[in-house]
Amino acid sequence: MCGIVGCVTRGRDIVPILVEGLRRVEYRGYDSAGVAAIEDGVLTVRKVAGKISGLQELLDEQPVSGSIGVAHTRWATHGAPSQVNAHPQLDGTGKIALVHNGIVENYRALRKSLEEKGHVFESETDTEVLVHLIEQHYEGDIAGAVRSALAGVQGAYGIAVIHADEPGVLVGARNGSPLVVGIGSDCYYVASDVAALIRHTRNVVYLDDLEMVVATPDGFSTTTLENELITKDVEHVTWNIDMIEKNGFPHFMLKEIFEQDRTVTDAVRGRLIELAGDAVLGGLRDHRRALNTANRIIILACGTSWHAGLIGEYMIEDLARVPVEVEYASEFRYRNPVIEPDDIALIISQSGETTDTLAAMNEAQRRGAIALGIVNVVGSTIARQSDGGVFTHAGPEIGVASTKAFTSQLMVLAALALMLGRSRDVSVTEGRHIVKAMGGIPGQIREILARDEKIDDIARRYAHHSNFLYLGRGYNFPVALEGALKLKEISYVHAEGYPAAEMKHGPIALIDENMPVVVVAPQDEFYKKILSNMEEVKSRGGRIIAITSEGDEQVKKLADDVIEIPRTMRHLTPILAVVPLQLLAYHIAVERGCHVDQPRNLAKSVTVE
Ligand code: G6P
Repeated sequence: MCGIVGCVTRGRDIVPILVEGLRRVEYRGYDSAGVAAIEDGVLTVRKVAGKISGLQELLDEQPVSGSIGVAHTRWATHGAPSQVNAHPQLDGTGKIALVHNGIVENYRALRKSLEEKGHVFESETDTEVLVHLIEQHYEGDIAGAVRSALAGVQGAYGIAVIHADEPGVLVGARNGSPLVVGIGSDCYYVASDVAALIRHTRNVVYLDDLEMVVATPDGFSTTTLENELITKDVEHVTWNIDMIEKNGFPHFMLKEIFEQDRTVTDAVRGRLIELAGDAVLGGLRDHRRALNTANRIIILACGTSWHAGLIGEYMIEDLARVPVEVEYASEFRYRNPVIEPDDIALIISQSGETTDTLAAMNEAQRRGAIALGIVNVVGSTIARQSDGGVFTHAGPEIGVASTKAFTSQLMVLAALALMLGRSRDVSVTEGRHIVKAMGGIPGQIREILARDEKIDDIARRYAHHSNFLYLGRGYNFPVALEGALKLKEISYVHAEGYPAAEMKHGPIALIDENMPVVVVAPQDEFYKKILSNMEEVKSRGGRIIAITSEGDEQVKKLADDVIEIPRTMRHLTPILAVVPLQLLAYHIAVERGCHVDQPRNLAKSVTVE
């Protein structure tokens, strides 16, 4: 988590660039923020507890300028969100400023040994040891000092460092936390995410683990931490600033929900072949044989991506008859998992940076599995370290609660299941049917989005409740989990997702008129069963909001409120059914006055364990 930005140029003030860049990475953390800049050989720092808007207010009152600087927006790990714990952190001389994303695992031992050498610490952060360690190694060359200091550091870091005595040198380094170098015309940048730089440049270099960059107003060089020069490819970012603006929507989350008719199209653009009733996924080309002979697919992911994995499991087993297991990446990485020679690990991640997911992928690879990614962010660590994969092409997702990335993951999983199915049991006729149904999804999403006003109305009537139960069966059980997660994340309302039939094994005890039950009940093979589950809720006084197929009369009789979704093939239903649940959560959160795009305690990209 945490967002960092650094910039070096000559003859002009870069503080506004840093603060604007910070706003673009605020999704990474937003409990405190700070900036440091060097002017006339003097390092000045401004820090606040709270959001970047607070930092801007402070800068308006107490301006800072300089042609080199670093900035940070924090998601606290060590030490509460406070001004003193905010970054940049300074060394004992007040000349070195450092911003950090990650966790220094051996910080206690480092701090103790530095204290013994006379260093005095002000904050509770793990980060402060880094800057004191650099001070300890400093002999007139900040890049050399960073290199020497990092040799003794264990843990994850993306850092940017400046020294008041070297006002033309910006140093960045990474291990486990993302860091990208931006190449401007007369300006060089480092940042956690290209979003921070996109207004200024689309030419970037992605650093890999244990690499460093040293930038000056005249250029930059990349090296390993051992100081071996390395030449890195300059990559061109294809998306633009509009894609990270709200474009008239009150929140990014709502904008991203409304983009889904387009993003699901982009997810499979050029990947479905109508005539052959098949899918072609170029990034998996080299692994077709392995996929065709796979004994088992192990899906590894966290959060919303894990829910997509659960649906992917149903899709792949249904269409391709390959056994699939879905694991929380955080659990997989620390167990002693059995990996057989013909197992394939499928890694699902929007950001491509989630620490647990990355570590789980590396563990699977270490044990001999081929790791294939379904990733949204091009250039991300998982995208680069996987053995192959498919980009979801959903564009930047800024809202912390994932929406469009989820439906794009489902489209890609449906394409993958089709591809695997076609090389096994699925006939060309069935394949064509699936391709046609997938082609209909964008229009059907538009139909659901047109019902937003009605969903808003329902949301207002239920927003005061403090507990919700979400139920679904089959393909829609993971949809219930995702609907509940959306509500929890952004409205701070307790919500639980359950397989509808499991309700009677416990949660039914909770049901009364104060516990709204959201039931995902399209007309599929579980329809009759879920009607019974709804009866069970009704007879205990529960209030039901049902997601059901268009024209369904029976559910209308049972439910207090109904949101209809168009009909599609059963394995594609989750792509439609989740959309009203996203909107329901969104409107409940707005009604409750919650900060939708930046919910408390969360961060979009979880780069700590
Ligand atoms: C965080 C985000 C979630 C996301 C999860 C996994 O918890 O808040 O929205 O689903 O990380 O992220 P990934 O980028 O790996 O999909």
